[in-house]
Amino acid sequence: MAEALTGKYGPWGVVAGGSDGVGAAFAHAMAARGMNVVLVARRVPVLEASAAEIRAKYDVETRTVALDLGAPDALSELTRATSDLEVGLFVYNAGGDDRSVAFLDKDLGTHLGLVHRNCVGPLEAAYRFGGPMVARGRGAVVLVTSGAAWAGGATLAAYGATKAFDLILAESLWAEWRTRGVDVLGLVLGKTDTPSMRRAFDAEGKPYGELADPDDVAAEALDHLADGPTWIHGSDTPTGGSPFGALSRRDAVLAMSRGASAHGDDT
Ligand SMILES: NC(=O)c1ccc[n+]([C@@H]2O[C@H](COP(=O)([O-])OP(=O)(O)OC[C@H]3O[C@@H](n4cnc5c(N)ncnc54)[C@H](OP(=O)(O)O)[C@@H]3O)[C@@H](O)[C@H]2O)c1
Repeated sequence: MAEALTGKYGPWGVVAGGSDGVGAAFAHAMAARGMNVVLVARRVPVLEASAAEIRAKYDVETRTVALDLGAPDALSELTRATSDLEVGLFVYNAGGDDRSVAFLDKDLGTHLGLVHRNCVGPLEAAYRFGGPMVARGRGAVVLVTSGAAWAGGATLAAYGATKAFDLILAESLWAEWRTRGVDVLGLVLGKTDTPSMRRAFDAEGKPYGELADPDDVAAEALDHLADGPTWIHGSDTPTGGSPFGALSRRDAVLAMSRGASAHGDDT
């Protein structure tokens, strides 16, 4: 299985947002399959501890790049920091929203930061790292998105919109690159047990409910890199469409709002 990943895509993988949660699970799963990994995140101690754990467990190389993916020059810095590596798999994972509140109850700068990290970041990553993959004729890109992409919903305005951007970006690149040797997967997640998710739910005093396991998410995604454009973790039909099916957009938005927050209006 190890050779299958590196042989098909290349020796190195990058996980943007790779120090905990789903990203760390991806990094471990990639390393377990023999891929060297570059981990990107902001908090240096967590980042270094995660890389050390991978080196101790698997016979692979690691590199850490500490940066804020919401900063304007983040992706050019990451490109420089990895310019000597053949990156065959890029996972853009960072993207969670740490506070789900009404649109006007967050400051504008926070919304803009989310848009930068979740939209500009994946687009630049796809351009800067996907371009060389297309030129080589091999590679894979995973953009981690969310069920919040399926429809709008109260308290989800900026987050859901960025995740819809990621979904459409992944699907479009899949359509362009499927005959160029590059697999693209828009990975749609539901509630998954990560430190970010726990922090967000704890802050609101909300019960966690049923949670997916990040290790299962990562392993399943790696098994299905070539089964894009979209993979819906936890669905009976993971390559299927929106779970809202034939609902009107209005009903879908109201259902999403009921699920997301007490701000939802049932009428
Ligand atoms: N967990 C869920 O229930 C859930 C549900 C649906 C979709 N998703 C999607 O799954 C993905 C992963 O979610 P997650 O729960 O694991 O949490 P996350 O907060 O999206 O990801 C955590 C990782 O990303 C890094 N990170 C976050 N912001 C960063 C930034 N600005 N610059 C650099 N690194 C950054 C974190 O390290 P630092 O904090 O040290 O930077 C950590 O390594 C996201 O795209 C999210 O939208 C998650």
